[in-house]
Amino acid sequence: MEHNVFEQMANRYDTEERIELANIIVKEVKAELQHSTTKSLLDYGSGTGLISLELAELVDSILLVDSSKQMLEVAEAKISRKGILNSSVLYSDFTQETPELKSDIIIMSLVLLHIPDTTKILQELFTILNDGGKLMIIDFDKNEKISHPKVHNGFSHEELQEKLEEVGFQSNEIKTFHHGKGIFMKQDAAMFISTSIK
Ligand SMILES: C[S@@+](CC[C@H](N)C(=O)[O-])C[C@H]1O[C@@H](n2cnc3c(N)ncnc32)[C@H](O)[C@@H]1O
Repeated sequence: MEHNVFEQMANRYDTEERIELANIIVKEVKAELQHSTTKSLLDYGSGTGLISLELAELVDSILLVDSSKQMLEVAEAKISRKGILNSSVLYSDFTQETPELKSDIIIMSLVLLHIPDTTKILQELFTILNDGGKLMIIDFDKNEKISHPKVHNGFSHEELQEKLEEVGFQSNEIKTFHHGKGIFMKQDAAMFISTSIK
């Protein structure tokens, strides 16, 4: 698996600022998870579980997937400490190889910006979703102040909408829900949530 900067930062990932931002995201995602108690949820690029481990009571099961073993170790320790019975982890990178899995809901929070080929990962997630399943992407709005060789500088809603449609998703809704100071590579930025149905 490709070298991942997140391996080095796993044990110090959960800072006050990241927890605060995660709580804002969790609030937004929870609003989309009404009547989901029988559904399976896959959190792609789960990191330490800041988002999905707050959702365990709203769904039937959660699979936290990440390409960093160390991030998953932190998530696993939280699962045992909190006694969460319906959540487990999987070390995997779907841009390399996608396992045979199915899920009703997929969340991808602050991960798409780290994946060079946007269309490819959307295709893989489309395959994994059950028919009628829901993909939720949380990421940054396009931000011209940011330039980094390995990270997308956010996404325009139109560009993402086009890619989602190309892959086969229907009824895509994208909205900006938060503006924050210094939240994207120390720059002020806005975050969107995109909800699509297979
Ligand atoms: C900024 S963190 C976000 C963590 C979590 N989703 C959240 O919102 O708190 C990005 C995570 O995506 C993971 N990641 C990056 N590229 C990935 C890939 N190709 N496949 C799976 N996980 C990936 C990283 O290891 C890291 O844990």
